[in-house]
Amino acid sequence: MPAISLPIRTERLVLRRFEAGDLDAFQAYHSLPETARFLPGPAKSYTQSMERVGRYANFAFEKEGDWLALAIEAAGLPGLQGEVVLKWLPGRGQGEVGWTLAPGARRKGYATEAAAAVLRLGFEELGMHRIEARLDELNTASASLCSRLGMRLEARHIDKWHYKGQWATELVYAILAPAWRIGSGG
Ligand SMILES: CC(C)(COP(=O)(O)OP(=O)(O)OC[C@H]1O[C@@H](n2cnc3c(N)ncnc32)[C@H](O)[C@@H]1OP(=O)(O)O)[C@@H](O)C(=O)NCCC(=O)NCCS
Repeated sequence: MPAISLPIRTERLVLRRFEAGDLDAFQAYHSLPETARFLPGPAKSYTQSMERVGRYANFAFEKEGDWLALAIEAAGLPGLQGEVVLKWLPGRGQGEVGWTLAPGARRKGYATEAAAAVLRLGFEELGMHRIEARLDELNTASASLCSRLGMRLEARHIDKWHYKGQWATELVYAILAPAWRIGSGG
């Protein structure tokens, strides 16, 4: 994989490496049950947030299974607004994208803008061929986001997960590099 040049600037955002100073803001939104509702574990404790911010700050994207994690900031307004992640999946040219915003940063299009930048990174700089997103069918905000990104619903796996005390149906959205190029005008 080529070296990743950070920060990434978009129209309204700066995507940068996490820093130790992000911990309190990260914990503020990851300690909320509403943030954790569609994420794998429970709302994060301070210790869990410390571990996660440390891991994100020191990410290396060198081999299959690695995660690239970027802190989302609004341009000209320092402070963590959320994160966007890209996982290098096993198999040639495969990736998975994920996203979380602080409640105050939602409904402004920030997740779409940040995820679009990560798709661009994956396809145009890292040479990926297919990037997917996996989500709970009840997570309508994420499903809308996938659609806005031009991702196609590929699969619906009924009762694929059991978490938060109930069965959940998984949706798999994905986009291929050629479709991305057409959609982005590239
Ligand atoms: C999933 C999540 C990131 C989606 O956030 P979001 O704010 O809905 O998505 P965006 O930031 O792209 O904002 C899009 C919304 O902002 C609106 N918006 C307002 N101003 C806008 C602008 N200038 N540009 C674009 N969209 C704008 C859009 O209309 C859209 O609203 P709609 O869905 O009602 O049509 C957020 O709900 C979240 O963090 N959830 C908790 C964690 C989570 O579940 N993560 C995903 C696990 S799979």
